[in-house]
Amino acid sequence: MRPRPHRIEHLPEQYFTALLARVAAAAAEPGEPLIDLGRGNPDVPPPAHVVEALVASARESTPAVHGYAPFASLPELREAIAVRYAEVYGVQLDPDREVAVVPGTKTALIEVALCTAGAGEGIALPDPGYPDYNSAVALAGAQRLSLPLDDAGRPEWDALVQRPALIYLNYPSNPTAASAPDGVFGEAVALADWTGGAVLHDFAYGDLVFDGRRPSSFLAEPGAREVGVELFSMSKSYGMAGWRLGFVVGNGELVARVSWLQEHVRAGIFVALQRAAIAALTGPQEGVEERRALYEARRDRVIAAIPGARSEGTFFAWLRLPEGVTVERILEEARVALAPGEGFGARGAGHARISLAVSDKALDEGLARLAPYF
Ligand SMILES: Cc1ncc(COP(=O)(O)O)c(C=O)c1O
Repeated sequence: MRPRPHRIEHLPEQYFTALLARVAAAAAEPGEPLIDLGRGNPDVPPPAHVVEALVASARESTPAVHGYAPFASLPELREAIAVRYAEVYGVQLDPDREVAVVPGTKTALIEVALCTAGAGEGIALPDPGYPDYNSAVALAGAQRLSLPLDDAGRPEWDALVQRPALIYLNYPSNPTAASAPDGVFGEAVALADWTGGAVLHDFAYGDLVFDGRRPSSFLAEPGAREVGVELFSMSKSYGMAGWRLGFVVGNGELVARVSWLQEHVRAGIFVALQRAAIAALTGPQEGVEERRALYEARRDRVIAAIPGARSEGTFFAWLRLPEGVTVERILEEARVALAPGEGFGARGAGHARISLAVSDKALDEGLARLAPYF
């Protein structure tokens, strides 16, 4: 059978799959061991009590654990994220109406687009921004509108060529590691109010902010919950990336649509995972701070070693490459992999992203090899 033309063909190259393949090919070449500072994969495991909760739950031989989970997730899990939002971000959520549980926020990036934008409508994406937002545009059959960010990470709203049905924002930002500039959330709410569109704030790195900043939830902005949702991930705050668990919180109508979509394409999330997530959210929180402090200390080493490197949060730093220096050249000559900036959008050209989610030893060795280029 010859498949008929379909929107799936508009999916772009998967940036991270391609990056991993390039790095693996380079690693197979003869030479000194390659240091991979391109990939952002949490290197610190979840707290022990979270793993224990998973194991204890999985040992229960009951259908309530091993059968299909409630499609709308365990109410206790929705309650647990609501309590955390109130305590950490000062945001009150109704756990029954304003919280949806998703198998990782990567999935929700797509689902929110499917629930908001019609074919041909505009979706505004930050440039530079997380490459998977492009996948959401393609799968929704929507049109990508560029939302360029200035050097401080502030959107240049005037660059939007039409009214977007959906705007993606992401602070702290992957890849630029900028935290939310003052006033940006208010500007997004005002724009969405005017256009009737929605806002998705990707808060995947919400707890990983440096230099005494406080985590800043979009939903703390007056009017935000009328226009948008926020994505909270268990991957970065708790080191649970492989477990695939996250939340869509905020606007009740949008949350209901995401839940509805999930009832059609999924059949709940393994109960043992949900119980472990409850343990993570309601148990001791020291691990979150330890993780944040660890990344901040690594960030300090990067800034000390590479002039002009910047990071206000996440587990990345953003570098401007000197004239004539490219990521390919560094990979070939120094055998250090970085994530090329242009893959994050046109505004990323001439930049690279360096990961802090690697061992201190690998980071120090990598920085020593990079120093001669900067
Ligand atoms: C900016 C951003 N958003 C969303 C995600 C997806 O996170 P997850 O699906 O693990 O919740 C990532 C993962 O790296 C990310 O960097």
